[in-house]
Amino acid sequence: SHAPVTVTLTGAGGQIGYAALFRIAAGDMLGPDQRVRLRLLEIPQGMRSAEGTALELADCAFPLLDSVELTDDASIGFDGTNIALLIGSRPRTAGMERGDLLEANGAIFGPQGRAIGAAAADDVRVVVVGNPANTNALIAQQHAGGVPAERFTALTRLDHNRAVGLLAAEAGVAVPEVAGITIWGNHSATQYPDVSGATIGDRPALDVVDAEWARGAYIDRVAKRGAEIIEVRGGSSVGSAANAAIEHVRDWVLGTGERRTSAAVVSRGEYGVPEGLISSFPVRAVDGAWNVVEDLEIDAFSRERIDRSVAELVSERDAVRGLGLIG
Ligand code: NAI
Repeated sequence: SHAPVTVTLTGAGGQIGYAALFRIAAGDMLGPDQRVRLRLLEIPQGMRSAEGTALELADCAFPLLDSVELTDDASIGFDGTNIALLIGSRPRTAGMERGDLLEANGAIFGPQGRAIGAAAADDVRVVVVGNPANTNALIAQQHAGGVPAERFTALTRLDHNRAVGLLAAEAGVAVPEVAGITIWGNHSATQYPDVSGATIGDRPALDVVDAEWARGAYIDRVAKRGAEIIEVRGGSSVGSAANAAIEHVRDWVLGTGERRTSAAVVSRGEYGVPEGLISSFPVRAVDGAWNVVEDLEIDAFSRERIDRSVAELVSERDAVRGLGLIG
């Protein structure tokens, strides 16, 4: 077995943290031969809950779990970290202005980015789960001097998985039959779940399901699935969000092979997305790096939807710039 990997979770005392930690410690994220050291980074109000989770982790006696350390100090939390899941954030609440939301998150992700730049391992990989995830990732990245820009990503895998699941259900096929779906843009209501290049079995998805549905009700259903879960469950997505974060990291580290997925990664200008934005793209992971899948055909409908979501990312970036949260 390999030397232990240090995994830091912020918001470890929260719901997604609780759902993720046991699976990470069981080997679901880094494989059955990889020992892990867990660092749980919380704010003082969340420490007690994280302590309780640490006790339960001890009670699982996971063979792969080397240690669990709790802290409310980011410089300790990110010291030597190889993988950071930034889950704790200040999500939008009713009546909150966008400026207030971005400012509150700047106060979290700026310092965390700085601490990652100062203390993390050279190979650090970061996925931001806490909303607004893409822009929080951008803020952290901009403060993490010395860390390559592409090591900061945001989670759109939950949107991707929702899109796969709902398409498979509509077509009446098993999940493994579905391939080639892309989530484009922002992890927000403007995201674009794109099935134009997708296949079901060996047929184009748009020959199997109603094309009008795929470009209307389906997009809405995927983009609003979070609200649907809140409505039905009486609380936000937790198990599915934790699962998506684990799959994002597993694919990033262990590779996807030919399988395509979606992740918000730094744009190098692919598909006309302005360079430097952290936007969701079709991706594969090879040798520990995400690669945007290039040369997919983008029809006029897709172009318009991608542009709309990317425009929202630009406006979020400009707003955090205006607030002095990034340079
Ligand atoms: P939660 O409220 O149960 O847990 C959040 C935890 O973060 C709390 O324990 C809190 O004390 C902690 N926290 C807050 N600020 C922190 C900081 N500066 N440093 C360390 N810890 C901090 O929330 P839950 O359900 O776990 O969700 C977490 C976030 O994930 C939310 O922002 C939510 O909107 C987002 N989310 C993102 C999804 C995605 O697909 N990208 C899907 C579902 C949720």
